[in-house]
Amino acid sequence: KQKAFIFDLDGVIVDTAKYHYLAWKKIADSLGFEFTHEHNELLKGVSRVRSLEIILGVGNIKATQEQKDKWLVEKNEDYLNYITNMEADEILPGVEVVLQWLKNNGQRIALGSASKNARPILEKVGILHYFEAIVDGNDVTNAKPDPEVFLRAAELLGAVAKDSIVFEDSVAGIQAANIANMVSVGIGSRAILHEAQYNFNDFTEIATDFLQTLVNQQ
Ligand code: BG6
Ligand code: MG
Repeated sequence: KQKAFIFDLDGVIVDTAKYHYLAWKKIADSLGFEFTHEHNELLKGVSRVRSLEIILGVGNIKATQEQKDKWLVEKNEDYLNYITNMEADEILPGVEVVLQWLKNNGQRIALGSASKNARPILEKVGILHYFEAIVDGNDVTNAKPDPEVFLRAAELLGAVAKDSIVFEDSVAGIQAANIANMVSVGIGSRAILHEAQYNFNDFTEIATDFLQTLVNQQ
């Protein structure tokens, strides 16, 4: 049977959360407030614009649209500096084994990400060729937990929701997959991703038996 396997990018395929954090922290530092790793958890799966709103909330900062636009540009320029030299060694453990198994077994693969930088990142780390469809922050209007990004990805792969499997590291992303009636697989802490149908700490824990079970599921 052919299924649609939809991957989130940041925190699932590559560990870019640390770069998003550093870039946002620079903005927070310049505004004179502390931005911690705990705060950064709130930004996972969240769009760039919404992330800034959350950060300004943390610092209790009121700003004009003009200032916000300036910070959004600065943050992204800084982030782009961090990712410019990304290479294959920044692919998270076990990801390529899973992608290759899916490919070898005739399964369809898509990306479903909130990031507007998704394509260049996949290119830099050398795994763009696995993806038959890419739906990212440039294509959707409604951010996760709205299921738009995953519904679009499944549609592009010609799959219905119940034949679609989503890999996600964010609570908002797991909720989006569940709302879409897709199979949700949490990558990361069970304590945080308890709404996921399945949960693994990382892709090295995902055996091919499990992938085969997902493929065979009615
Ligand atoms: C998500 C990340 O994948 O993309 C968020 O989890 C990030 O942290 C969002 O803010 C938007 O990314 P970008 O690259 O468009 O700023
Ligand atoms: Mg993510």
